[in-house]
Amino acid sequence: MLGLCRRTEKLEGAVQISGSKNAALPILSACLLTDEKCVIRNVPDLEDVRVMFALLRKMGKTIKFEKNIAQVSGRLRSGVLPEKLVRKLRASVLVMGPVLSRLGEGSFALPGGCALGERPIDIHLGGLKAMGASYSILRGRMIFMRQALRGAHIKFSFPSVGATENLLMASSCAGGVTVIENASVEPEIGDLCLFLRAMGVGITRKGSSYTVKGRACLGGADFTVMPDRIEAGTFLLAAASVGGRVRVDSARPAHLGALLTKLRATGVKISKKGNSLTVNSPKIIKPVNIVTGHYPAFPTDLQPLWAVYMLRASGRSSIKDKIFPARFMYVDELKRLGASMVLKNAVLMINKSRLSGTNIYACDLRAAAAMIIAGLMAEGETRVYELRHLFRGYENFFIKLRKLGANVSMEKVKK
Ligand code: EPZ
Repeated sequence: MLGLCRRTEKLEGAVQISGSKNAALPILSACLLTDEKCVIRNVPDLEDVRVMFALLRKMGKTIKFEKNIAQVSGRLRSGVLPEKLVRKLRASVLVMGPVLSRLGEGSFALPGGCALGERPIDIHLGGLKAMGASYSILRGRMIFMRQALRGAHIKFSFPSVGATENLLMASSCAGGVTVIENASVEPEIGDLCLFLRAMGVGITRKGSSYTVKGRACLGGADFTVMPDRIEAGTFLLAAASVGGRVRVDSARPAHLGALLTKLRATGVKISKKGNSLTVNSPKIIKPVNIVTGHYPAFPTDLQPLWAVYMLRASGRSSIKDKIFPARFMYVDELKRLGASMVLKNAVLMINKSRLSGTNIYACDLRAAAAMIIAGLMAEGETRVYELRHLFRGYENFFIKLRKLGANVSMEKVKK
């Protein structure tokens, strides 16, 4: 599929934010920790979520998914993680924790890299080894020998989101108490902890340290996933970039502090009412630099969207990504639209630019959204190819954008 985007003068109206992809994926994986039925609500209907469903089914689970509600039941029967599903979904490494916690053994294909750069899992594996797991690598697979996990005191070298989620789940059914220090405190992990507590796991957090009291048998739970803060940020930045007045509903303003501060610094007016945020984009946008970091710092997933927004600013700005320093593959594509950007020593410098439409290719899901927004700012027509990336992480993105008045449509790529 390709996206056809034409210059749009402004976006107007309200948009409803879907459930968080990055909370739903670990929570669905945590359903492997029990054979009792779990009901997970506000699950976004995304490609990545459907791959996670395929994975859980492969491991013995039965899944019913309709109207954004996933009913997960059935016995965990296999700890084998097939390579083709790992290559489709990097977050599939999140099944390692629950599988080893329950079965004590498993065979997982090594994950691949991606457009964001190298994606090692050494922190995940270091934590699992500290809990007694041992594995050998054979033909691209990690084969874990049968060994019941036990509580351990773990200190991460880097607050990895995925490793924190994996070790929280690994310790959920393990004997004893596990402490995880220098862990990630992203809101999506807070949601996972709420779900694990609802299943009966004893979890407390102090700063960036978690203490988990495992239980051999966990119950099912009925849980509603939090709203997607990255999708909310995407629509706030779309309105600021294209211009106009947009209300973002069922957001969680408390999760968007860093973005709201930076948006206000550029001159955008933002008002808050309950779980709605309204953004009013001014004529003149001031240039503002960002450095991404761990929550609550500016999220790396919004830096491509910020880069497109700064093309409208009246002066030079810069972006540094401390989470994925190589997350600038989208720059060359934006340059094809006429973007004035220079990447030097992993810092992206951005100047005010007049964009004109042409063919561009998306390289990851957040860059895909950024390119579509750039296409709304460019003169003429922009065709965004490789839209499959977008469907991984944004539910009904084109429908939501068209409802706001964006001049966008999709069409099949002619062979
Ligand atoms: C999660 O990825 C998100 N994915 C990413 O969102 C997000 O960009 C990232 O966290 C940072 O916030 C999901 O939640 C499914 P990390 P994850 O482990 O868990 C290095 C999106 O757009 N690292 O915190 O992979 C790693 O190389 C996606 O929805 C190690 O060195 O993030 C990277 O530089 C993209 N060793 C940094 O840490 C490890 O064992 C961040 O990785 C693990 C990570």
